[in-house]
Amino acid sequence: MEERKKEGRFKRIQAQLEALLPKTEDPMARMATICAVLHHKMDYFFWTGFYLYKQDKLVVGPYQGPVACQELEKDKGVCWAAYHEAAPVVVPDVHAFPGHIACDSRSRSEITLPVFDQNGEIVAIFDVDSDRMDSFSEVDERALVSIAELIHRTF
Ligand code: SME
Repeated sequence: MEERKKEGRFKRIQAQLEALLPKTEDPMARMATICAVLHHKMDYFFWTGFYLYKQDKLVVGPYQGPVACQELEKDKGVCWAAYHEAAPVVVPDVHAFPGHIACDSRSRSEITLPVFDQNGEIVAIFDVDSDRMDSFSEVDERALVSIAELIHRTF
């Protein structure tokens, strides 16, 4: 998708989520809503979801897309990389990322980013896969970071 088109679409999605999410404070319900909105509006989002950080594991949470790994092998792959870096990780070609965990062989590129609670602790990893190479730019990164901040926001 063209960058300018992406920006416009993310802007509308952000506004939609800011209207929808305050209806509950439940982070799981908010994550589910975020997945549903993004997954059906961004045609290159092949898998859109969250891995929850629980007892030092990453366990799958709300998502949309093909069936995914339920638990991720510890300290391996793109989700754990975002956890350890406490920052977004953008992978233009998943086959070139050492240790990438392929839940579905159709995934080609990926972005992962931490979700922080109000105490600044990482409580989940937001993960989006595309079935096309090099799908995620700084536009996606900025937009997804801003959407992740809505999960624990007190509106
Ligand atoms: N590729 C991820 C695993 C999760 S799936 O993409 C849904 C990783 O390497 O951590």
